[in-house]
Amino acid sequence: MDTNPKLTGQAAIVTGADSGIGKGVAIELAKQGAKVLINYHHNEAAADITVGEIRAFGGTAISFGADVSKEPEVLAMFAETITQFGTVDILVNNSGLQKDSPFHLMSLADWQMVIDINLTGQFLCSREAVKEFMRRGVVEGRSRAAGKIICMSSVHEVIPWGGHVNYASSKGGVMMLMKSMAQELAPHKIRVMGIGPGAIQTPINRAAWDTPEALQKLLTLVPYNRIGLPEDIGKLAAWLASDEADYITGTTTFIDGGMTLYPGFADNG
Ligand code: BGC
Repeated sequence: MDTNPKLTGQAAIVTGADSGIGKGVAIELAKQGAKVLINYHHNEAAADITVGEIRAFGGTAISFGADVSKEPEVLAMFAETITQFGTVDILVNNSGLQKDSPFHLMSLADWQMVIDINLTGQFLCSREAVKEFMRRGVVEGRSRAAGKIICMSSVHEVIPWGGHVNYASSKGGVMMLMKSMAQELAPHKIRVMGIGPGAIQTPINRAAWDTPEALQKLLTLVPYNRIGLPEDIGKLAAWLASDEADYITGTTTFIDGGMTLYPGFADNG
């Protein structure tokens, strides 16, 4: 637990928090004093390990299985959070997947699944969070905002990605979902922000880092010359959700060791 926690008493939902970036975010929110619902899709055992790690340092966490692209399951997840924690102050829309394929061979099913989870899931969860933020409003002494939504995007909201057209399209969509919500909801004291991670060491991109050759190739795209870790993203998410970031809304923070800096041009192009 942090000695000067920034999110004391706030209730958070982190989707896809059984592994990878979501797990890193859930742990950092809990270290800052938030009570966290660890959402998972199918891996209940992994979610319970995250819960156990949080409880081990004195944090509060529960797990809940829901497919973020299914409306009734999202409604049930919000109902459970409100029953257990009283309200929702922070939503981190993190669930996401890749179904990579050459464009001309991409099946409609693989296109649709990536859009459903990565984009529609963020819509459904955000809508339920906003209903609760509007119902409750600002609570004096808890946070200056009525609620905070963090949309996990990617460097691929701006970097086109051949072989991953469904994924890059979903993240471009996440960017405009985030910005349009931020514009509409700011008068309600609701902040909506994006995080654009680059190459982070998680299961989603294992093939890009799990051999020395793969890692070396990956690092040619990262001027800062290291792969990111889930806790890098977690610390940013916790800060963005806190009142220290109270004037931030409607923008993506890239956290990528310089991947978005066109590293191919560092030496004259
Ligand atoms: C993808 C990873 C990839 C990274 C950088 C992420 O959004 O999920 O597979 O390594 O972007 O390209």
